[in-house]
Amino acid sequence: MTDKIIITIDGWSSCGKSTLAKQLAKKLEYLYIDSGAMYRAITLYFLRNNIDGADEKEIKQALKNITVQFIVNPYNQQSEIYLNGENVEYIIRDIIIAEKVSEVAALKDVRKFAVAVQQKIGKNKGIVMDGRDIGTTVFPDAEIKIFMTADEAVRVERRFKEMFQKNPNITLEEIKSNIALRDYIDSHREVSPLRKAADAIELDNTNLTEKEQLDFALKLFKKNRKSVEV
Ligand code: DC
Repeated sequence: MTDKIIITIDGWSSCGKSTLAKQLAKKLEYLYIDSGAMYRAITLYFLRNNIDGADEKEIKQALKNITVQFIVNPYNQQSEIYLNGENVEYIIRDIIIAEKVSEVAALKDVRKFAVAVQQKIGKNKGIVMDGRDIGTTVFPDAEIKIFMTADEAVRVERRFKEMFQKNPNITLEEIKSNIALRDYIDSHREVSPLRKAADAIELDNTNLTEKEQLDFALKLFKKNRKSVEV
């Protein structure tokens, strides 16, 4: 019996879920899985293969041709996503993917496919997974569930800084409208919309440093595990 647990981190786009999840996983020596990367990788496949999401048969067939894996990079110890054997960790962060991903992630067959892979990865616990439906649908029995939020202006600024480094042509307006659109689609879709699970703890990090939010999560962990030293 493992005494490791599952920690889920859900929340709005660009509120720092992955930053916290990565740091927490590192500290606890758990595996970090970015579930959004799966939806982004599937979106990349759909874009490359001109699958528009309207034809259910085409979607089902496409999913049969997709394998996604997370492999730990030995140089930085981070898990990176592979689409049919190709490392797509960096390409899936492009704005072109961000503009399409919420639409693809709303498709019922896509969600079924991604959730099954995520549940398999979490089978042995010892995992921190972030996303939109991890505490509600993927691991409803997770021991610790965090729901993150932050003021919209702060989220836009953080994402802009990150994207601007890769693409200096990007504008604040583009980022702002992309985040607003994704939040809307993610929280209004029919299947597993973004919701705070009833037993999730809310973490608003508008005015928190990375260290403060990590301390908050570690406190929750200690409370849950009582006897375990971290
Ligand atoms: O976390 P992210 O921004 O990389 O996620 C990209 C998109 O994937 C997001 O807009 C919604 C979708 N997503 C989802 O529907 N369910 C998840 N568990 C994770 C992401």
